[in-house]
Amino acid sequence: MSKARVTVRSGFKDVLAFGKLISVRKGIIAQAAEAVPVKDFAVNKTARALHPEVQHMTVSRVVSVAPGVKSYVLTPDASLGTTQCAYFRAGQYLSVRVSINGAIVTRPYSISSSPARALDGEYIITVKRIQDGFVSGYILDKWRPGTKVDVSAPEGNFCYEPLRDAKTIVGVAGGSGITPFLSLAQAIADGTENARLVLLYGCRSRKDALFSDLLDELQESCDKIHVVYVFSDEKVADAERGFVTRKIIEKYSPEKFSLFVCGPAALYKFIAGETADMGIEQKYIRYEMFGEIKNPTALRGFPTEALGKSITCTLMHRGETLASITCSCEESLLTSLERSGIEIPSGCRSGECGLCRARLFSGSVFIPREADKRRLADARYGYIHPCMAYPTKDITLII
Ligand code: FES
Repeated sequence: MSKARVTVRSGFKDVLAFGKLISVRKGIIAQAAEAVPVKDFAVNKTARALHPEVQHMTVSRVVSVAPGVKSYVLTPDASLGTTQCAYFRAGQYLSVRVSINGAIVTRPYSISSSPARALDGEYIITVKRIQDGFVSGYILDKWRPGTKVDVSAPEGNFCYEPLRDAKTIVGVAGGSGITPFLSLAQAIADGTENARLVLLYGCRSRKDALFSDLLDELQESCDKIHVVYVFSDEKVADAERGFVTRKIIEKYSPEKFSLFVCGPAALYKFIAGETADMGIEQKYIRYEMFGEIKNPTALRGFPTEALGKSITCTLMHRGETLASITCSCEESLLTSLERSGIEIPSGCRSGECGLCRARLFSGSVFIPREADKRRLADARYGYIHPCMAYPTKDITLII
């Protein structure tokens, strides 16, 4: 057995050694080069490639999917420094940044292509016109081949996790909520993901089912994908009639499955009710929550006494007042800030990602209980997510 050599010195010798150490170090510093050599470690390069702050893209192709629905193929804009698409997991979204009449706004859009396409240098996002929508109409009217677009790194947790999820995903899609499942189905078909997908796609009729040709093709070519159409307004031989009920979920699901849901808010409420007593473990349930609440006044607990009042939001940063803006209890603080030309970080716009986090220094806001995803410590110490906070009195916000 080897013995460790330990040198024990007196306290006085330690002081002498320490004194010498300083002069040695001073010598090394004097001889050092002027500029500090910056090492770029491989791990840092990988992190930057996977999580860029911004990706500068160009719209390279526009595909009309249905009336009021278009897909946009985005490719990296090397002239602005983006040379590749950050890789993503099927089900993730890009936060798209657009400037409309001086207001900088962001909106999350699911990537509808397979992650494998990102490696070839393209993302596809699909945009559906929303009535009175601030951004969707702008994109559909203005974006054309050659339009420059800034997007975030891929974000979101609406993804298959092999260690946590069951081997089969039962996906419930409503309307344009099909897009993350389209990405997942392609990822399963091309071998990027190793899972089975039972897709229950609810819409009014066959003509309202987006991407049905591609879905049918994927189902045809891959035995891990099963698509079931559920039409509420049309009786078709090879489709279910009505809504995606518990009965339909049980009819097509294996004993053990993960439940993924994406679509309008009404669908979430309906599916939550239908599946409440099915005994599905919480870890197997995923709701894609991105997007702001369309009508907060209809929510439980909404403070109706604040309706019609003009509310002032004073914005502070590092002790300085940045701006004072007028807002209303019917609009999220994030939207009010953006309308005033103030841009703060944002992603999901549904209180999940935490990117827009700010501190409520004074005043009060309404936070819908069902959308309050803050950490307990944040809630306790006055932090809020402005995308899910509606001011009810004059407030001071620290960002
Ligand atoms: S934008 Fe994600 S929490 Fe507000």
